[in-house]
Amino acid sequence: MDLKQYIAIVPDYPKEGIVFKDITPLMNDGAAYKAATDRIVEFAKEKQIDLVVGPEARGFIIGCPVSYALGVGFAPVRKEGKLPREVIKVDYGKEYGKDVLTIHKDAIRPGQRVLITDDLLATGGTIEATIKLVEELGGIVAGIAFLVELSYLDGRKVIGDYDVLTLMTY
Ligand code: PRP
Ligand code: HPA
Repeated sequence: MDLKQYIAIVPDYPKEGIVFKDITPLMNDGAAYKAATDRIVEFAKEKQIDLVVGPEARGFIIGCPVSYALGVGFAPVRKEGKLPREVIKVDYGKEYGKDVLTIHKDAIRPGQRVLITDDLLATGGTIEATIKLVEELGGIVAGIAFLVELSYLDGRKVIGDYDVLTLMTY
């Protein structure tokens, strides 16, 4: 299935000069959402994943169905102030702003093999911050999966040598 037909291109959102790739049409189509999820599930099986971790908010949309299909847990990475118990945090920058990401301290057991999921790789700031949180808790980043990669923003160089799956590249 050609998944790109389900990505809407929106110029000047959320700021002038940004050409936004909107994944909501893909999620809205049951067959396309399932096809994308199935490809990530296959990748996760190869990597023998114990846990899926995804950053708010669109990392949840990609990661939770994968977690369900594998029968493994899901741990949310959220913006500051959203998780109710003890967290670790990291500052980061992304394509259109700065923020802070957090994860519960007990979300990952040391040595667990983690798949990180997100909808899109842009500058890599979000994924870099998420990798830091996972590793600080002793998790092994066994794979990283995105629906979309914006190759012109060079997020790959931030990711380095991790095993990455992207389903669509612009
Ligand atoms: C978007 C997107 C990725 C990130 C990519 O999330 O869903 O997580 O930005 O950009 P980067 O590679 O430059 O870090 P956003 O922070 O807008 O949050 P949202 O999913 O809650 O809308
Ligand atoms: N689309 C969706 N999310 C994003 C984008 C984009 O083009 N850039 C950074 N986050």
